Amino acid sequence: MHHPYDGRVVGRTTFATPNQVETAVAAAAAVAPTAAALPAYLRAAALDHVHRRLAQRADEVAALITAENGKPIKWARAEVRRAIGTFRWAAEEARRFSGELQRLDTDPAAAGRLALVRRVPRGPVLGISPFNFPLNLVAHKVAPAIAVGAPIIVKPAPATPLSALLLGELLAETDLPEGMFSVLPLPNERAAGLVADPRLPVVSFTGSGPVGAAIRRSVPDKHVTLELGGNAAVVICADWSAEEDLTFAADRIATFANYQAGQSCIAVQRVYVHEFLYDGFLPRLVAAVRELRTGDPSSELTDVGPLVSEVAARRVEEWVDEAVAAGATIEVGGRREGATFPPTVLSGVPRDARVSAEEVFGPVLVAARAGSDDAAFAAVNDSAYGLQAGVFTHRLDTAFRAGQALEVGGVIVGDVPSYRADQMPYGGVKASGVGREGVRSAMDDYTEPRVLVLTGVTG
Ligand code: SIN
Repeated sequence: MHHPYDGRVVGRTTFATPNQVETAVAAAAAVAPTAAALPAYLRAAALDHVHRRLAQRADEVAALITAENGKPIKWARAEVRRAIGTFRWAAEEARRFSGELQRLDTDPAAAGRLALVRRVPRGPVLGISPFNFPLNLVAHKVAPAIAVGAPIIVKPAPATPLSALLLGELLAETDLPEGMFSVLPLPNERAAGLVADPRLPVVSFTGSGPVGAAIRRSVPDKHVTLELGGNAAVVICADWSAEEDLTFAADRIATFANYQAGQSCIAVQRVYVHEFLYDGFLPRLVAAVRELRTGDPSSELTDVGPLVSEVAARRVEEWVDEAVAAGATIEVGGRREGATFPPTVLSGVPRDARVSAEEVFGPVLVAARAGSDDAAFAAVNDSAYGLQAGVFTHRLDTAFRAGQALEVGGVIVGDVPSYRADQMPYGGVKASGVGREGVRSAMDDYTEPRVLVLTGVTG
């Protein structure tokens, strides 16, 4: 593995052999009944162990994330903190996950009947994770699976397997039975075999839209969850007009368009500003973007590091050049150096330019005027995607209108769309995916209800 910033070797690993893959899948299938019957205290203890060990090794893990992914160390530390929380929350949910009672005696024919509705694992899970959060998005596959007693096989992104392998090392320190988890570094071309394997009835994929769509088409009978991309938008509403409001919004947007070099599915990509505010807001946004420090991701001072590879940076450059050729103006940024693309703001971008209509997954913002708040909401919806949106407003009626009008999985009021708490439901509509992650949502997703009807029950 090479460091995306300077190309130095940061680790070596091998792809799993076909025999190792078969061993892992057979072990997951064999352990499934035992795993489903594991008591809550054992599942919770394993999850607690991982969050404690991650906390003990936090500095080392953050450095590993930066080395394999290139994200600035401060964002790598934030990712480690989040992964600790993901495992801790999963331990708590494992203790709570009890099912519910439903009374059935609402009809004379069912007098004396009571339903006990519990959730049981659908079976072993295949988790396919992306490079942009090499630790926490693996945690989002693994922790809920252990919480419900489902074996899981993780295929990490080929560019960033090291953090996933380290998680595997921590899980191996627990009392979980053999076969409960495996981490299989594999090239993407070999994922299809795992996806098709009938012994893995649940597939949880986070990654690109075309790959997600192909997975769904290839296994229509499996339970598939897809966390795909987005071109997240934010709206500056008419009432967000005080000096401090505009400064706050400009800082938040500049930061969260460019954190991790824009390589987050909810990084701000499109900014719609009420037309009364646009001319005053754009220079503030450009100034805030200019202040971001680009450079070596291992420096504490760096805000924006390289993209995951030079190939990725070249693609972003191509999309920006294409927008400029179609009439867009570069307000700041725009010139690539190796794998680093500088934080860039574009205006006057045609709506169908890829830098606006597709997921740019780079540090590029597109700013546009909107004639009214509702026109801005319509512009947000004028997209194939629908993951999260941000709405800067102080007004409760506008917040509720946005919550109703915006076709997305989540609306963040008073902030950018890039906010995610790991316990909340997270996922999108339209081309942004199907199903929800977030610890409890993924636990529901990995399980199905099983009803036990009791008869002769009174009271
Ligand atoms: C993603 O890129 O979908 C994950 C964003 C996050 O977990 O903050």
